[in-house]
Amino acid sequence: MTLEPEALTESPLPDLAYRGKVRDTHNIAPDTLLMVSTDRISAYDVIIPTPIPGKGAVLNQMSMFWLEKTKHICANHLINSAIEDVTLPETVRRRGMYVRKADRIDVECVARGYITGSAMAEYESTGMVAGESFQPGMVEADAFPSPIFTPATKAEEGHDENISISQMANLVGYDLTEKLKNLTLEIYNFAHSFALTKGIIIADTKLEFGFIDDQLTLIDEILTPDSSRFWDATKYQPGKTQPNFDKQFVRDWLTNQDWNREPPAPPLPKEIVSKTAMRYEEAFSKLTGAILQ
Ligand SMILES: Nc1ncnc2c1ncn2[C@@H]1O[C@H](COP(=O)(O)OP(=O)(O)OP(=O)(O)O)[C@@H](O)[C@H]1O
Ligand SMILES: [Mg+2]
Repeated sequence: MTLEPEALTESPLPDLAYRGKVRDTHNIAPDTLLMVSTDRISAYDVIIPTPIPGKGAVLNQMSMFWLEKTKHICANHLINSAIEDVTLPETVRRRGMYVRKADRIDVECVARGYITGSAMAEYESTGMVAGESFQPGMVEADAFPSPIFTPATKAEEGHDENISISQMANLVGYDLTEKLKNLTLEIYNFAHSFALTKGIIIADTKLEFGFIDDQLTLIDEILTPDSSRFWDATKYQPGKTQPNFDKQFVRDWLTNQDWNREPPAPPLPKEIVSKTAMRYEEAFSKLTGAILQ
C-alpha cells in the first residue's frame, strides 16, 4: 500500500487541539485527549519535509510500553491504546493513545546519566552543570558519578532554558520540586538499567508531569528517542560524540548538504529514509522484544 505523504504526516481527524513538531493532539472530551505520533521527523529543531514510515508507530508504542512498565513508580495519563478503536483510520490506530487531560506543570524534568549536549557546554565553560560542580577532566559522553536532575523551563517559543533546582523551587515550590526530582531520577534509573540489558544506553531523558484530580501524574510521551538520547551500548566510547540510535543517518546526511539549518530543510533521499526507518524499528524491537503493530 502506498500512502500519500499527508497520511503519514498529518492525522486526518477533526478537533486538532495542538500540533507539535511530531505529534498531533486532539480534544476528544473535556477530560480526554488523543495523542497521535505522526511520521514527521525533525533535526536541529526543523521539521524535515520527508516522513519516515513507521516512526510514529514506533514512538507511540514505545511510549506506551514504558508507561505500562513504570506505573509502579508513578501514576500516568494513559487510558488505552488507540489500536482497538476501529472507528479510527488504520494509520491513527497504530500511532495513537488516549490519555487523561492534566493540568500541566510547566517545567521539563530532565535526568542525565551522561554528560553531553547543553550539559557538556555548561561544564566546559564553568566546570558546573545545573549549579553543581563536577570533577575536572570529564569528556564528552562520560557517565556522571550518579545521574543528575537538570530542570528546564517549557518555552512557548524557541528553545527551552535550563534552570537551577532552586529556580525551579521558586517557580513550583520546594516540596513539589523535591518530589519531581526524586520521581524523575527513579524513572530514569529504572529505564536506564532495563535498556542496558537490551544493548541501549539511555543517556538522558525529559519527562513532564501534571495533576489529574489533584494526583501528581506522569504525562506526555516518555522514554522515546525523541525525548531522550539513545546510544548503542556496543559502540559506547567516551571522548567523542556517540552515534545515536535514531536520527544519525539523517543528521550525517544533512551535515554534508549545503543547508544552513533554517527552514525549509532539503527532502531526504530514499536510502536515508529506509535506513532511518529500519533504525527506529530496530530500537523498538531491541528494547521491547515486541512486534510493531
Ligand atoms: N495528559 C496531558 N494533559 C495535558 N497536556 C499534555 C498531556 N500530555 C502531554 N501534554 C502536552 O501536550 C503537548 C504535546 O505537544 P508535542 O510534544 O506534540 O509538541 P511540543 O512539546 O510543543 O513540541 P515538540 O514538537 O518540540 O515536542 C505538550 O505541550 C505536552 O506538555
Ligand atoms: Mg513535546
